Amino acid sequence: MSTIELQTTKRHYQVNPGGRLSGSIRVPGDKSISHRSIMLGSLAEGETLVNGFLEGEDSLATLNAFRAMGVQIEGPEAGYVKIKGVGMKGLSTPDAPLDLGNSGTSMRLLSGLLAGSGVAVTLTGDSSLSGRPMGRVIDPLSEMGANIGSQPGGTAPLVLAGNQQLNGIDYQLPMASAQVKSAVLLAGLYAQGETCVTEPAPTRDHTERMLQGFGYSLQRDGAKTCLQGGGKLTACEIDVPADISSATFFMVGAAIAEGSEVTLQHVGINPTRDGVISILRLMGADIELLNQREIGGEPVADIVVRSSPLKGIDIPEELVPLAIDEFPAIFVAAACAEGETRLQGAEELRVKESDRIQVMADGLISLGVQADPTQDGILIKGGPIHGGQVESHGDHRIAMSFAMAGLVASGSIEIADVANVNTSFPGFVELASGCGLSITEVSGK
Ligand code: S3P
Repeated sequence: MSTIELQTTKRHYQVNPGGRLSGSIRVPGDKSISHRSIMLGSLAEGETLVNGFLEGEDSLATLNAFRAMGVQIEGPEAGYVKIKGVGMKGLSTPDAPLDLGNSGTSMRLLSGLLAGSGVAVTLTGDSSLSGRPMGRVIDPLSEMGANIGSQPGGTAPLVLAGNQQLNGIDYQLPMASAQVKSAVLLAGLYAQGETCVTEPAPTRDHTERMLQGFGYSLQRDGAKTCLQGGGKLTACEIDVPADISSATFFMVGAAIAEGSEVTLQHVGINPTRDGVISILRLMGADIELLNQREIGGEPVADIVVRSSPLKGIDIPEELVPLAIDEFPAIFVAAACAEGETRLQGAEELRVKESDRIQVMADGLISLGVQADPTQDGILIKGGPIHGGQVESHGDHRIAMSFAMAGLVASGSIEIADVANVNTSFPGFVELASGCGLSITEVSGK
């Protein structure tokens, strides 16, 4: 295949209508925890062993970035990774820009972590990542003394000067964002004095939990988290649970397709991530949590989902940050529910890998569902779903959400531009087919 063909060839899904989901499966490892395991493992003293690492393009982008900064990393092989930590000051300046692909988590967390590390780097990404707002990390990091250049409008590529002495700040997050919170806390590791972050609503706390797992002390008091710069990280073992965001597609698929029953093994159910369970239960989903346990500082359970009739709800706003990545799939559940589902207070969805409010509304409408987007949410009226063509805009979660809609559609659904499913869920088609979804991935223009 020529380069030109490679550039213009996009992959799409062909999903045949009907079916039900059954089986007991383990979806890939948690993306957020996988990123952080590489970051903290690289800066630690000693050898960190990771099990259950997500071998998706996003977390591999982080892994490759640290390799390019001189860290020796073995694997990943069947989810195992061994990181020879270089210590807080042991990173070396890479020869070339660090290409972070589609991964917002890599870019925002690395901006913070590298801002005071003494390493000069340029951070680049694909066209989606290059359009996403980075001012939200540049602002607090600059306040700490970092020197970060960006494109007009505060977008990537980002140029970090390195060798900056950072000072701790007491930062009030303007939006509920775990990436911004984490960027400031990671910069705080290198800052003089104390760095504190206060969040307007709880967001995922994997950074805080993992820092403690690496022996770094931090103080958490309600919405405020503080740490002292200048400490060290001590290598440890990390067991990455299955990603609740990836499990969500199967939870929704099993809930909407009559006769389904699926068990999702070893899923992370951290209370800052479990909003999808609460929302689906409010809609009437039959979800059972078995074998609840704590593994390496993170709560884990096996999740059993059986199909049941769903009803439309007003989604409680306090659940929004706890389910922020799950809304594309929740919108599909809403399309299958009786009555209306209303989401408000979710403007952050407009700056994800795609504008998830608009892209989901467009896709639902093209499948015959009544969907009215608003600035900060959407109103969806449940009803029949017919076949048709849907554009995912290269957004992995949009693609997988519409794939599950095929279970209840009256005709086949074609979903365009699905290659980025590999950023978070390698093997999705095989796993979903094995559970009963009639899906194939096709190359085409
Ligand atoms: C993430 C935080 C969230 C989430 C993203 C992963 C993280 O982003 O959407 O997929 O690992 O910290 P925001 O912090 O922008 O909400």
